[in-house]
Amino acid sequence: MQATELKKGIYWVGALDRGVRDFHGYSTPLGTTYNAYLLVDEKVVLFDTVAKGFAPELLARISEIIDPGKIDYIVVNHVELDHTGSLPEIIEAVNPEKIICSNAGKKALLAHFHCEDWPYEVVATGQTISTGTKNIKFIETKMIHWPDSMFSYVEEDALLISQDGFGLHWATDERFDDEVDQGQLMREAAKYYANILLLYSPLIQKALQKINQMEIKIDMIAPDHGVIWRSRPDKIVNAWDEWSRQVAVDKAVVVYDTMWRSTELMANAIAKGISEAGVEVKLMPLSQYHRSDVMTEVLDSKAIVFGSATLNNGLMPRMADMLTYLKGLRPAGKIAAAFGSYGWGGEAPRLLDTFISEMKYESVGECLRVNYVPTPENLDTCVEFGRKVGEMVKG
Ligand code: FEO
Repeated sequence: MQATELKKGIYWVGALDRGVRDFHGYSTPLGTTYNAYLLVDEKVVLFDTVAKGFAPELLARISEIIDPGKIDYIVVNHVELDHTGSLPEIIEAVNPEKIICSNAGKKALLAHFHCEDWPYEVVATGQTISTGTKNIKFIETKMIHWPDSMFSYVEEDALLISQDGFGLHWATDERFDDEVDQGQLMREAAKYYANILLLYSPLIQKALQKINQMEIKIDMIAPDHGVIWRSRPDKIVNAWDEWSRQVAVDKAVVVYDTMWRSTELMANAIAKGISEAGVEVKLMPLSQYHRSDVMTEVLDSKAIVFGSATLNNGLMPRMADMLTYLKGLRPAGKIAAAFGSYGWGGEAPRLLDTFISEMKYESVGECLRVNYVPTPENLDTCVEFGRKVGEMVKG
């Protein structure tokens, strides 16, 4: 795949990682891209690099446009290793005059690469550099995705180079939003937000407001993962606004793990009750659904119903994993309930109730427990429990 021109003199020169399937716990069945951008003006600027192992691909794409040795500045918008893993190799090849980053970015680069002698130039929000005919304004975006993160805005082209912001994991051969299936595009964007950024939603709201107040026109958004938003940049900005405000719809996720299928029977009956109440339900056994796909559904759901059989006086391992992951990403303002079958102690549903309380979710009531195998009457109770969840969702 060739370098792609986005705006006159500005090119995508990144790399495709078709093989990556796990991104620190997030499943990436479609792989990802590490986008980097080259601006060729009186000064030549490279925005971000790529993960370790992908430097030859990046340098080959740059070489289609210009000799990499002619790059003057490397802008490090984000220090995470998917964007800087190849930085030492690129610096060796380019010998840049400046490495431009935020103050936190410099500290993080030093902590990663221990190179005191790199030509750092620290920038802050509102600072601008000229490349000759173009001006690049920097906007610090702390915690989108790390403390070091910043956006670079090319004023003359109204182009926002947004590192992790507005990204998604998809190693598509297409480079632009209007060239791919729109349903899949927004699903992957939601999955990315739910699994990478959800925890930082309050800060993302502030960052979006800051960009609004700066009154910068945005004609195109070029993130470091996935496609470039050239046709509808407002579509992804509006989606991020909704997701960061944690706007939820009348939907419930029933996520569970079962041992001898009793908890599964309960889950099915609870889902039936939710559906009968007129609420959309996603039934997600953890034996079949990855934690990151559950999070994607949780993103815009009003309710989460957790189910686990009791194993060794505790939760089923996949449910413990799910709770750890969910707690870290901290979806807020949910209605929640717990259930599960048990043999003697019956600890798992109680542990789920404790979790619901710790997350400050609105509880549907005490957990629903069934001893060993549910009777038809037990399953009727589960359906009723589901209806109650559904009624609370509808408010
Ligand atoms: Fe794509 Fe936070 O790195």
